[in-house]
Amino acid sequence: MKTRAPGRVNLIGDHTDYTGGLVFPMAINRWTTVEGALTDKTITLASDDVDGVVHVAIGAPFDGDMQPSWGRYVSAVSSVVNPLHGINGTVTTTVPVGAGLSSSAALELAVAYALNDTISPTSLALLMQQAERMATGVPTGIMDQLCIASAREGHGTLIDCATLGITHVEIPTDVEFVVRFIAHRTLEGSEYTDRVRECADAEDAIGPLRQAELKNILSIENPTVARRARHVISENQRVRDFTNALSNGDYVTAGHLMRESHASLSHNFEVSTAQMDAVVNELCATPGVFGARMTGGGFGGCVVAMCEPGTAIDGWRVSPVGAACRLD
Ligand code: GLA
Repeated sequence: MKTRAPGRVNLIGDHTDYTGGLVFPMAINRWTTVEGALTDKTITLASDDVDGVVHVAIGAPFDGDMQPSWGRYVSAVSSVVNPLHGINGTVTTTVPVGAGLSSSAALELAVAYALNDTISPTSLALLMQQAERMATGVPTGIMDQLCIASAREGHGTLIDCATLGITHVEIPTDVEFVVRFIAHRTLEGSEYTDRVRECADAEDAIGPLRQAELKNILSIENPTVARRARHVISENQRVRDFTNALSNGDYVTAGHLMRESHASLSHNFEVSTAQMDAVVNELCATPGVFGARMTGGGFGGCVVAMCEPGTAIDGWRVSPVGAACRLD
């Protein structure tokens, strides 16, 4: 049996998912693949990239000390997915690990499909979000898992994280998206958890950020919390405006919104780095580039640029692919 799950790049809408906001990621043509023979009660998986073999007994509770450490994800997935059988096989990936392209969600979804392929995409995404949180201890949102579970080829996945409603938005073929790797990072030990808390503080003061307006920020006393809220409220609007601009072929406006998103993530939300800011500036000054921004959780990872096809910039040209699935 063989399963595979793509990575994703987020085109716009970062740090909005965990307050029920809007996000617009796209599953990309890099995949994690699980291949092997079905077994009764055990999961045995080797990786092409890391030494050691992961052994998980079906029915075992989550083991956070699993070695090699990527086995934590397998253990977490197995503990939430109600496996129908085990597997003895290998994991391979073309998704760069720790680069902000959701390598962990791709691993979770590929393993989940190998153990139980009867769960609906949205339910599976919610279970995989739970698995991610168990494996990392970081209170991440639903964006990555839901995009990878439900993506449609040729489309970006506009997600309303309040309702989990999905709109598949066609990605035009006369623009190109290029991902530039900046630095390895992990959200474990980063300020991600602080940002989740600061957004909760903002919601304590002014109610759900999804419904809030920029003028409400005036009643937030703590200036840091007010800036976090400013990012989220304005980013939700940028997601709407970006998807409209993209669909209307207005790439200049779409690119401008990407730059504004980056500026807000850098100044208001403080999840960018000096290196990412410099690369975004460099890309935006390059002829043929409509816009660029950091993508994903931040603190390193990748930058994504939208440009005219064939623009000479270094990076991985990515294209929109379909959801995780079982192949045979
Ligand atoms: C990580 C998380 C997502 C989301 C992004 C930031 O990728 O896993 O849930 O919060 O960061 O947009």
